[in-house]
Amino acid sequence: MKGLFITFEGPDGSGKTTVATEICKRLSDLGYEVVHTREPGGIAISEDIRNIILDPKNTMMDAKTEALLYAASRRQHLVEKVFPAMKAGKIVICERFLDSSLAYQGYGRQLGFDEVLSINLFAIDNTYPDMTIYLDVDEQVGLDRLSGREFKDRLDQESIDFHHRVSEGYREVLRRFKDRITIIDASKAKEEVIDASLKEILKKIDDQR
Ligand code: TMP
Repeated sequence: MKGLFITFEGPDGSGKTTVATEICKRLSDLGYEVVHTREPGGIAISEDIRNIILDPKNTMMDAKTEALLYAASRRQHLVEKVFPAMKAGKIVICERFLDSSLAYQGYGRQLGFDEVLSINLFAIDNTYPDMTIYLDVDEQVGLDRLSGREFKDRLDQESIDFHHRVSEGYREVLRRFKDRITIIDASKAKEEVIDASLKEILKKIDDQR
């Protein structure tokens, strides 16, 4: 089988980690070779960049610097982890990718969708995901889920207006890339969200054969 690059997107608290972890387990049980990873991070250099971006003490960080750091972390992660796994025919399940930058930096930070897309095109060499699962949850539900977390990173601490703009950004992402994005209602019970996501992914694997 050819490799498959699948990303999970959605606002903070939409359940990406929980759903992606269970999906990887079920795909492995079905005999697929799966790589579970995340952005920003996934490899040492990109985890270091993640720590710089999300450190609450970095209050001076400029919005363009932030966008470039996400793009830099993305580039290194693709080169070191995603491309080799794809070449080896594996299924890569990645929490967050390009669409997060378009929503958070393009809209949240108001840098502009096309401006953020253009710096990312340099980083990704036209590598779009084969499929993106968008976990759709009301932003307030997401933020309420997060409020229970003890540690809040620099982006979690952003204003409610910032998170409104991120939601607007995701709506634009869904309009522009509707062919590769599957929307899953993530306000439902965890099991239902996992089953619905798995069904769509298995359909994609079948189509690709
Ligand atoms: P995580 O908490 O989902 O691991 O992501 C860390 C934070 O980084 C989250 O608030 C979303 C944000 N983010 C961006 O702002 N732009 C990006 O390109 C990515 C990948 C994440």
